[in-house]
Formats: sequence, C-alpha cells, structure tokens
Amino acid sequence: MTWQNLDYKQPYNIDLTENKRLIEQAQLDASKSAAERNRLGQFATPNTLAIEILSYSKTLLPPNEKIRFLDPAIGTGSFYSALLKLFSIEQIESAVGYEVDRDYAETALKLWANTLLKVNLEDFTQSVPLEQENLRPNLLVCNPPYVRHHHLSIEKKNFLRDLGIKATGIQLSGLAGLYCYFMLAAHEWMSQNGLGCWLIPSEFMDVNYGRKIKEYLLNQVTLLRVHQFYYDDLQFDNVLVSTSVIWLRNTKPNYDYSVKFTWGGTISEPIFSKIVSSKVLKESSKWNRATILDTQKTSIKSKVKLSDLFEIKRGVATGANNFFILSAEKISELGIPDELLTPILPSPRYLPDDEIFADAQGNPSLKHKLFLLTCKQPPEELRINHPSVWNYLQQGVEAGIPERYLCKHRSLWYLQETRYSTKFLCTYMGRHQSKNSKPFRFILNHSKAIAPNVYLMMYPKQHLATLLAADPELLQSVWKALNSIPVQSLIHEGRVYGDGLHKLEPRELANAPADLLLEALAHPPQLGSCFVRQPQSCGDVSC
Ligand SMILES: C[S@@+](CC[C@H](N)C(=O)[O-])C[C@H]1O[C@@H](n2cnc3c(N)ncnc32)[C@H](O)[C@@H]1O
Repeated sequence: MTWQNLDYKQPYNIDLTENKRLIEQAQLDASKSAAERNRLGQFATPNTLAIEILSYSKTLLPPNEKIRFLDPAIGTGSFYSALLKLFSIEQIESAVGYEVDRDYAETALKLWANTLLKVNLEDFTQSVPLEQENLRPNLLVCNPPYVRHHHLSIEKKNFLRDLGIKATGIQLSGLAGLYCYFMLAAHEWMSQNGLGCWLIPSEFMDVNYGRKIKEYLLNQVTLLRVHQFYYDDLQFDNVLVSTSVIWLRNTKPNYDYSVKFTWGGTISEPIFSKIVSSKVLKESSKWNRATILDTQKTSIKSKVKLSDLFEIKRGVATGANNFFILSAEKISELGIPDELLTPILPSPRYLPDDEIFADAQGNPSLKHKLFLLTCKQPPEELRINHPSVWNYLQQGVEAGIPERYLCKHRSLWYLQETRYSTKFLCTYMGRHQSKNSKPFRFILNHSKAIAPNVYLMMYPKQHLATLLAADPELLQSVWKALNSIPVQSLIHEGRVYGDGLHKLEPRELANAPADLLLEALAHPPQLGSCFVRQPQSCGDVSC
C-alpha cells in the first residue's frame, strides 16, 4: 500500500515537525513491548546522528544533483527529517520510504504530510525495484532492522538467501542477520553511481558471516568510508551493539582503490583516521583498527625491495637534449607557447641541494629553468596552430636531428616519451668520491618537473602512495630513509666501470633493500607519538 501527500509545495517548518516526530517516536516506542521492538529491529536513529550522516553524505554528492532519496526501513523518518534540514526542497526530486509496521508508517505519513515523501507500508525485502535507471534512488540511507539470524524463520531465511543471490550473486551464511540481507537486496534499487549509506552493527566486519558482505562492499560497489563508533559509545538506547556507518558508491571498481576508515569520536571529528587500500582490506581478516594497521604493515613488510614500493623508470631520453631541452631565455626568443613545454630538471651537477622546491608555477626553484619541448601534434597542425614551433622544428630538420637514432625510431621524430613528475629521484651514475662520498643521490622533488635520463624516476606504488597521500609528512621520512640505504648495498646491486664510475640501472635500483623505508613508514615520529598518547588529546587524525 502506498500513500503520498500531494500538498508538498506548501511551506512547512522542519524543526517543528522534527520536535513532533521525536514525541511521537517516544510514544510509539513506549506503546510496544521490548519483544515486539526486537522482532522488527525498531530502534530509531537519534536526530543528531541522522544529521551527521546526511551532512557527510552531502559532501559525497555532486553539489546540485537532484536527489532521489530512499530509506528502505523508514520508521518515523529520522533520516528524511535530516534530508529536509540539509537539502533545499528544490533539490529533492523524490523521496520514498518502506515500513512494515503500520503504526510507524502511518505516523511517518502524518508527520511528513505537505512534503513529497511516499511511504510504502510494505516489507522492503518483498518489494520490487524500479526498472527505469533515471528514476532509481541516487541517495539510499538506511538504519536497517537489527534482527539476529535466530529470530528469522527457516522459510524467511531461505527467501532472504535467494533474494541476496538474485540481487548480487552472493549467498550469505545462515548466521547473517536481517541487516545483511537488506544491504544485498538494496543493491538492485540503487542508480548507477548512486550513493548508499548504512548505519549497521560493526559485528559483520570481524566475524565469519560478514566475509561475504565485505566482499560485496569491496568488489561489487566502491566502498568510500567506514566510521566505527567506539564500543563504549553506544548510539542507541537499550541496544548494546557497537555501530558503524558505511558509505558506498554503486560503481563496480576494476582496480585497487583507497577507503577512508575512521574510529571513535564523531563522523565529522573522528579520533583516528586512516586511508586503507582495498587490497589491504581484502587481506585483512577483520576490519577493526588493530588488524587493519597490522595487515597494512605486514603487507608492506613482507616485500622488502625498493621495487615493492616504487616503480622505477629512467628519465626521458630526448634523443637530442640540446635541441629539445630549452632555457627560459631561448623559449621567449623562439616564442614557444607554455602548453607545449614541460619543466625538466637540469643534470644533477647543477642541483645545489638534494631537495628541490617549487616556485608559484610549480617549476623548480632553480637558477636555470629548463623546459622540454613536448608536442604531440602532427607537423601540418603545428604549422597552422603554432608556427613558432614549426619553424623551430625546421631548424632541427636542417641540423639533421630527425636522423638521430632515437628520433628516427619514433612515429614523429620530435615526440617524447610520456613521463609524469615524481617526488623521488635517484641520480644513477657517479663516483665514490662525489658529494658526501656517495655515488648515487636520492632527490626529493617538490616541483612538477620531470627528469632527463641521467636520473631514475621513482614512482610510489599504490601502498606507499596511499600512505603518502594520507600523511604528506612521510615524504621526508621516506626520502631520509632512501638516503640512509647503505652505499655498499646500492653499489652491490649496480655495476662499476674501470674508471671508478658506478652505475645503477632501473632494475638494479629496484633490487635494493627497502627495510629502512619500512621502518620509516612504520614509525614516523608523528605516528609514534599518536600511538601512545591519549586519544582525546590527539589533534592529529592521520593515525
Ligand atoms: C532500526 S529502525 C530504523 C527506523 C528509521 N529509519 C530510523 O533511522 O530511525 C528499522 C525500521 O525498519 C522497520 N522494518 C523492520 N522490518 C522491515 C521490513 N522487512 N521492511 C521494511 N521495514 C522494516 C521497523 O519497523 C523499523 O521501523
């Protein structure tokens, strides 16, 4: 049965209605026995929590996107109330709620008369999702009924098992509670890329029956954030269950991705926060903080070579540095436009320090700025759109540059290899008696400059990139650790020429030991102090 009040364009006062709702909710709850409420998992979401959940959800939605809201277990409408408080009425295109208990459904309808909420007095698990993609909800928020498996009849369990399989192909263990089936059933309801938010018991993250739900969250949708309230911070009166809020996007991921995990405090001000890769979550048997941090460390620690932390590539081999790498003065003389230039580092002997800072444009703060001519357009296009560049290329032709080995083997003789800038570089050639008596230097590059082939470019792999993104201060720790790799172990990996010149190929640098980096990652000073201090006094949520 569906009801909808059609007077929804009338102005209404959300705070007044919310106050009424709280009174009616308390009266309804009091009118039911504990057994009745347990049977249908009737524990309403406190308004402050609903507002926090919707506020964070709002940050995950495109600013002006029209909202099609669905609450599959709406009760008296705690989340709907928060929706109306936080979104303009014009932004809400539709709002639908399911409620199996007539008392709650009728109360919701009465309270939200004059709004566009459609209340369906129906068991959500028995309802049929909309066919049309453009009508499907793009914001699903739910505090599903927490009904343990032993309160579900065999027939109900069989029905729910088949429903889960139909919606996602996943067969849940018979120990799963009703909330797990709600999550799977709702999968079919969401629009592509729609946002889902679930207020659920944390239990499934640490027990066997939750394994399939975790697989669903990692593989069939994109898990965005998990906030776990502390065990002693119960969110519901009379319910001794630790609670989490989960946000997901209905987009099937096809690569490793990062998930935000937060613990304790509130959603907007958690006590701890960590970015975790989906790969680590797949390997982590439990999703509590200790296990995740442990898995994150071991998953890095079990691999101890630089190649496990970095992809290492030689810098750009231009084929003719003097022609393709241009000084700022030469560029203005030739009139070459910025969009065809990429900042590039000079040879290491022109680097006064091992840390390169950036100017306001992101170019290296160095006396001699250099740029690589980077054009991909065919000659005819360049002639019309960038005559200055075309003229310069003609000079190259006259000088025989296209006949040089590398240039000759390119589809367009002036095309350059694609390289992106990276924070970490290694000078791969040197003598033992050079700076600090080290043949190789590790450079920390804060600029957007790429590097020529006298450098090795070290691109952090997913694990390391995730850690660095979560805590940029780790850049310094990693850089220092790179510089502390014993010279002998680098020399051992590389080769030495008769004249005492040492060289490291990308594969050889990749083989160097990474133990010191792991230590730097596991015990950066700021993390170390967070582990021992009192959570409340810790202003830094990055650990
Ligand atoms: C945990 S409460 C949440 C209520 C409300 N959304 C809130 O957050 O305050 C779960 C609600 O789901 C309803 N419910 C239980 N089983 C249901 C089902 N199969 N279909 C729809 N609603 C159901 C209960 O009556 C209850 O009102």
